[in-house]
Amino acid sequence: MIVHISEIFSKKMENKEVTVRGWIYRHRTSGNMVFAVLRDGSGIIQATVKKDKVDEKSWNESNEVYVESSAIISGKVVKDERAPGGYELKVSKFETVYKGEPFPISKDLSDEFLLDVRHLWLRSQKLTKIFEGRSHIVNYLREFFSKEEFYELPPPILTKSACEGGSTLFELDYFGDKAYLSQSGQLYAEAYIYSLEKVYVLAPSFRAEKSRTIRHLAEYWHLEPEMAWYDHKMNMELQEKMVEYVAQKMVKNHPELLKEVGREPGELAKVKAPFKRIDYEKAVDMVNELGGKMKHGEDFGADEEAVLTKDFEKPVFVHHFPKEIKAFYMPEDPKKPGYVLCDDLLAPQGHGEIIGGSERIWKLDELMQRIEENNLNPKDYQWYIDLRKYGSVPHSGFGLGIERLVKYFLNLDHIRDTIPFPRTITRCYP
Ligand code: 4AD
Repeated sequence: MIVHISEIFSKKMENKEVTVRGWIYRHRTSGNMVFAVLRDGSGIIQATVKKDKVDEKSWNESNEVYVESSAIISGKVVKDERAPGGYELKVSKFETVYKGEPFPISKDLSDEFLLDVRHLWLRSQKLTKIFEGRSHIVNYLREFFSKEEFYELPPPILTKSACEGGSTLFELDYFGDKAYLSQSGQLYAEAYIYSLEKVYVLAPSFRAEKSRTIRHLAEYWHLEPEMAWYDHKMNMELQEKMVEYVAQKMVKNHPELLKEVGREPGELAKVKAPFKRIDYEKAVDMVNELGGKMKHGEDFGADEEAVLTKDFEKPVFVHHFPKEIKAFYMPEDPKKPGYVLCDDLLAPQGHGEIIGGSERIWKLDELMQRIEENNLNPKDYQWYIDLRKYGSVPHSGFGLGIERLVKYFLNLDHIRDTIPFPRTITRCYP
């Protein structure tokens, strides 16, 4: 019977004869014994080969394998307190599927080397668990939006219009013309609300980030909902409901995984709406009272966000930023001139901003004025301006960085471990 390794531990398989398929994780020989640990997509199990219990071919192959050789192993499941998971396989047959060459990764190698061999390092237990977690997180996000009756549509990736300012645009040659890799699907998601009302896009966004930080990638996955008739308040309520939904699903369904990657499930269990809302000006004062150094009118950097969130156990909203430091499409609050109806959602424990959202300017005159104030060329935004000419309605939306959320939920030190092949200022390989 071919089984996944996790089934050996989850079902009562004691004393049953099973076959598992996978890759050699550890390997050691000792006299007439071979101790091999096999891994598959679900876990690891120790397999013990005794010379007098297997045929000659099995004995030879079990001796000669390398770490990461692929193999099919049959044997009896027996209890052994010393083995990982408390069970091991007493091997009756060992078949090497592909021996290959000695694996180039051993312990204690530098981060840079591990990034050079990322295509192989993806097999590590750590990254396997992280990407399993990432996959669950993305599934729960999609599940949430499906329950909330949103439609998912794709945005274009090649565009002519900057959404988030010129400084981080990747420019490319588009059949002799200039185009860019999309910084955000938002402007296109806005076009979708006129037919489907509640939509989201989930696609890569590109930022030519010139700095090396633990939370910036040049290519990241961006989930961007956009909702007709939603105001600033409804927008924030949707964000906290979404974050709560995914956090609670992870705690309920994957507590072991969370522990294995270094996140205490009890910490995520506290992530329940409502989240605290702090006005930008108050937030700047709080940062300064807590020992930070920030001028009013500046944006929060990683350090300021860490200071601001340090006493919180769940994410916090900062809202009403000065319009000068936010994007051209965010409307001024008529009740607070100079400040826009926007929010950033900041995760605690130094993880920082995971979401940026706002109402959108929906009146033509206001949009034209802001395009001018921001020194943008209206020609580049003609189609977007058009959306305000025909049946425009109040609407809001936000952008969630998938890798930022994964970093926070799985409590990872660096954003590069949240995506299989990270793209940063210094790396576009492998
Ligand atoms: O705050 P940002 O730049 O907002 C937008 O792009 C809006 N158009 C989104 C919208 O309203 N639809 O980016 C949104 C989020 C950030 O909060 C962060 O989580 C993530 O995208 N993000 C990055 N993630 C990884 N690497 C980068 N370089 C990122 N830049 C932004």
